[in-house]
Amino acid sequence: MNVRAIYPGTFDPMTVGHADVAERASRMFDELVIGVAASRSKNPFFTLDERVALARRITESLGNVTVRPFEGLLVDFAAAANSQVVVRGLRAISDFEFEVQIAGVNRHLAPKVETVFIAAAQEYTFLSSSIVREVAGHDGDVSDFVHPIVVEAFNRKYERAGRTGRRPTPES
Ligand code: COA
Repeated sequence: MNVRAIYPGTFDPMTVGHADVAERASRMFDELVIGVAASRSKNPFFTLDERVALARRITESLGNVTVRPFEGLLVDFAAAANSQVVVRGLRAISDFEFEVQIAGVNRHLAPKVETVFIAAAQEYTFLSSSIVREVAGHDGDVSDFVHPIVVEAFNRKYERAGRTGRRPTPES
């Protein structure tokens, strides 16, 4: 049986932590569809098109991964994608309560949809998209947290020269 899973999120932007979860999920399932949620209520920094384009570039080497935008309910996206498996990454115990709540709502709405949790790699447990946006917004170095094309995307947004290295020290 061909199992297609979806990995939903706002991905504003996709971090190395998200990419790690996507890569591991792609090895667990025959196909993985990354669903980039419009998440209008979160007022995302990157547009939906930009978030989709970045996620596509970041995962392009994974042969069984596709990236699609979605609006509306996750369970409707799962049905449209012909999938009954939702993958979510868990970074810390603090994620657990919220994630179990979402999984419960989704199971109530669509009983056949199962949520599978993947433990985020230890070194990325502190990471979140908002932390990355915060650091990048102050011209800090986010190159350890995101793919180089995301660094470029931040630089374009902030109309900065293409500095991707560390903030210069006062004596440099
Ligand atoms: N590495 C780094 N960061 C991670 C991470 C990982 N492995 N896993 C989660 N995060 C972070 C994200 O960066 C994000 O950080 P931020 O909020 O500080 O920017 C945070 O955890 C949660 O983001 P994300 O995983 O993208 O989830 P989300 O809460 O934005 O989106 C949806 C969750 C899209 C799945 C959910 O909102 C949804 O299903 N929406 C559709 C509407 C719906 O069906 N609602 C009913 C169910 S509630």
